Order: sequence, then structure tokens, then C-alpha cells
Amino acid sequence: MAVMVKKLHPLFSAEVTGIDARHDEGQLRAQIEALMDEHAVIVLRDQKLEDASQVAFTKLFGEAEIAPNSGREKMRSAHPEIFNVTNLAADGGFQKEDDPARKYRLGNHLWHTDSSFRQNAGKYSFLMAHTVPAEGADTEFTDTRAVYDALPAATKVRLEGLRAEHSIWYSRALKGQYQPSEEELRVRPPAQHPLVRTLSGSNRKALYIAAHVSHILGWSEAESRPLVDELMAFAVQAQFVYAHKWRPGDMVIWDNRCTMHRATDFEDSKLVRDLRRTTVREGLSVAA
Ligand SMILES: [Fe+2]
Repeated sequence: MAVMVKKLHPLFSAEVTGIDARHDEGQLRAQIEALMDEHAVIVLRDQKLEDASQVAFTKLFGEAEIAPNSGREKMRSAHPEIFNVTNLAADGGFQKEDDPARKYRLGNHLWHTDSSFRQNAGKYSFLMAHTVPAEGADTEFTDTRAVYDALPAATKVRLEGLRAEHSIWYSRALKGQYQPSEEELRVRPPAQHPLVRTLSGSNRKALYIAAHVSHILGWSEAESRPLVDELMAFAVQAQFVYAHKWRPGDMVIWDNRCTMHRATDFEDSKLVRDLRRTTVREGLSVAA
């Protein structure tokens, strides 16, 4: 079947048809990587991926992250690489308002990149929709290459050489008020990355920011916030944002190195939203 590509936004993202992620005839990885370098977010429609085939597909692109097993999540897949993205509780009902899993999930409503809080950060994420509300619960994306291109020249100069600290616990404190255990704090310490990076593949510069950013290295939090907040606000202006409306069977792949995303509100005590995420790591360290 011929591969067809339809742009979803003037600056980035595309819908791709004619690819079945279950079948690799030897070109699948190169084909997807080329699409990712160009579009940063791609939507594969009508995929029929159960957890095992999602994990196998993910591993074509590198080492898959293992979902944390903190006791918070009682609905683990038989495949430890699968992150449940759901508002269902272990008993099959909706998560209660004070369920720690819900509190943790609410942090995903802030603009972020997956696993920038790890030194070996997230490269691609793969999110497979099993059950989604008929309307709402979109995932929004912004391409931080296009954002960087649009920054004022003086800001670009100001960002040169700056590095930022990213912490999952910083963003969790901002929204959801999830309380990490001592063990979680120990196993997921902050990471430090350049604020601007040049990507292999597209050879474009991207702003590398997220709600996980607590401060600029060498600056206090109070000194850092005006710049970080200004960059975050600039990056999520309407002209940069693509809102994905989910259909069951959608597999959305995004490049965490050059995008941010966020979940949006929906009636999570009435409507089921059940997706599975996998993420591949970048490599040992994030290059500037
Ligand atoms: Fe995410």
C-alpha cells in the first residue's frame, strides 16, 4: 500500500496512511525516522497494536524505557515498557479524585517533554489509543524547532550556552500535588540539559524546555523563572499548536527532543480514556 502523508498543521505534524506498524519489511525504521525528522509528530491511523506488538515496534528505534513500578500503578501490563495512560483505576472503575494515580496524571496537563527529567532523556514517544472519548481529551503539541526559529534574535543570543535543570517532582508540585516517596525521589533525581540543541537528522535547532524545568544552571529559581516562563509562554502560542483529536486505533509518535505536549481536560469521572505509551531513550547523554 502506498504511503500517503497529509500535513496537519502549517509548521509540523502529519497524518500518515499506508503503514502497518506490525510489519517491518526492513525499511520501517528508516521510513519513520525520515518522517519524524521532517514533521516531529506523526499520526498513524487504524493501527491494531496490542501491547506486545507496540513494544516490538518501539524497540526498532532504540532502548525502551521501563515504566516505574512505584506501587502507585496497579494495572501494569505484562510488558514493563508499557506506561498506562488512563483514568481507570485497578478495579476497572474511574480513578477517584484523591487517587495518587490521578494526581500524578494531572501533571501531564502541563506542557512537557517525556523524560527530559532523565539524563538519558526520551527520544520518541508512541501513544496508542485503545478507548477515547468521542470528543475532547485532545493532546496538544508544539514544535520547538519552529518556536526557536521564531524567537527574536536577541533572545537567541541570550540563550547561547545556557543549561536547565529538569525534575519530574518540580512539575508534579505545580499541578496535581502528587507526593513522591523517598524511594521515588532517590531513583528519579533531576537532570541537566542544554536549553537549545541542534538535532541530528533535521539539523535544526530546537528549544528544549518543559514544565519539568525548575531553573537555569547557575541561576537561582527566582532569577530563572522570568526567562523560563517567557519561553514557555512564547512556545505555546496558538499559531504553534496542533491539537490531536483522537480516534481509537491512532498511534501518535512524537519527537521529545523538539516538541512539547500536554493532555487537556475532560470529564474524567464519566468518560473512559485508555491509551498505552512507550518511549525510547535518546542515548547516554543529551548533546548540545
Ligand atoms: Fe507526556
